Amino acid sequence: MDWKVRVCASVEEMRAAVSPIWHYFGRSGPTEEQIASLARVLPAERMHAAWDGNRVVGGAGAFPFELTVPGGRVRAAGVTVVGVLPSHRRRGVLRAMMRAQLDACRQNGEPVAYLWATEETIYGRFGYGLASLATEIDFARERSAYYARAEPFGETRLVSLGEAEPLVAPVWERVAAVTPGMFARTSAWWQARALADPDWRRRGGGDLRCAVVEARGRSTAYALYRVNLAIDRGVQIGSLDVIEAMGDSPEATRAIWRFLLDVDWTARVKSWLLPVDHPLVLLVAEPRRLRLSVRDALWVRLVDVGAALAARAYAAPASVVIEIGDAFCPWNQGRWRVSAGGVERTNDPADLAGDVTALAAVYLGGFTWTQLARALRVTELRPEGLARADALFTRHDPAPWCPEIF
Ligand SMILES: CC(C)(COP(=O)(O)OP(=O)(O)OC[C@H]1O[C@@H](n2cnc3c(N)ncnc32)[C@H](O)[C@@H]1OP(=O)(O)O)[C@@H](O)C(=O)NCCC(=O)NCCS
Repeated sequence: MDWKVRVCASVEEMRAAVSPIWHYFGRSGPTEEQIASLARVLPAERMHAAWDGNRVVGGAGAFPFELTVPGGRVRAAGVTVVGVLPSHRRRGVLRAMMRAQLDACRQNGEPVAYLWATEETIYGRFGYGLASLATEIDFARERSAYYARAEPFGETRLVSLGEAEPLVAPVWERVAAVTPGMFARTSAWWQARALADPDWRRRGGGDLRCAVVEARGRSTAYALYRVNLAIDRGVQIGSLDVIEAMGDSPEATRAIWRFLLDVDWTARVKSWLLPVDHPLVLLVAEPRRLRLSVRDALWVRLVDVGAALAARAYAAPASVVIEIGDAFCPWNQGRWRVSAGGVERTNDPADLAGDVTALAAVYLGGFTWTQLARALRVTELRPEGLARADALFTRHDPAPWCPEIF
């Protein structure tokens, strides 16, 4: 092993550190504009790089996020731009970067790390567990009627990206505050990421457009979307791609989706990262026409099990002792008593035993302990252990959701 991992000391080093992942984007490195926009939301000291002499061969970043968990928020590392050059793959570069990154999170007092995985097999060995699912729709617009006629709600208007932030950010914040998996967006995030529309992000699609629903004097829903025009023998066959859409009430959500489903000249309405419990399934007359499909979404790593568990709420006055195995972060190993009154280490006999990846699966409320047991991912050691654990953790309503791949 003749390479070393350390954090970047400057934006220039960060540019080098992201070039391995850019290789997989088919590019030699980020443009000036790309690195400048990344640097607005990712401090250089949150970017680890693996150096082979004076050349970077791998990189891994961590956005400083505030992640919503059931009943609260927790500081969390949003792991991003992870890549190792093909010339250095399978020599342990990723493993060394994961080691350095998780140690840094622990030192920084970030009890949780989480990410979107390009391949599901990469991160389990580092203690990441599947914590939420996302659904994709590809909806034929001509079959998109709602099950019942809806009274009009509010006024929908198109706004420019330049004027959007004060209208859309409060809606995001109201939804994010009660939806595990979402994170608090800073103004820099809105400007550099969510409302930015550089050519390279369009991938051949239309301009990013923003629609806002206003009711009772405030913005209450919004959508970011692209119209992709395509015509075959005079017939419109293009799609409207919904990048992100949400409302802060059922009426607002229904209204913004009706707007999206009623844009002329589009044959299909597509979206990729909807929550599994999206109201559209019950709103539309023909849910089969949504062509719903499900994929893995967030992968969560409890860096500090005690602090992470203490940061979320529990639903019942029960108590359970869980024996946690954690080979990559052994400081988490052992028995933890979890109750609505608090979380502590204990030597009492365990009710359940499982790996830290199982704990990740229930952490945001996306899965239950009983589901894990059915998949043989946890073992019930004492009677009623699973039932008590499920009463405490419960499946969260609404389901965990992250509308954005970071
Ligand atoms: C995925 C990637 C970062 C792995 O880097 P690497 O330096 O080759 O990984 P390591 O050598 O440290 O491997 C660590 C372990 O993970 C395994 N592993 C690594 N990549 C894997 C993959 N894609 N699928 C399955 N297992 C993988 C290795 O076999 C090794 O297993 P071991 O610990 O049992 O020996 C690298 O291949 C890459 O950059 N891929 C393209 C970009 C990408 O997918 N990035 C992730 C973004 S979320």
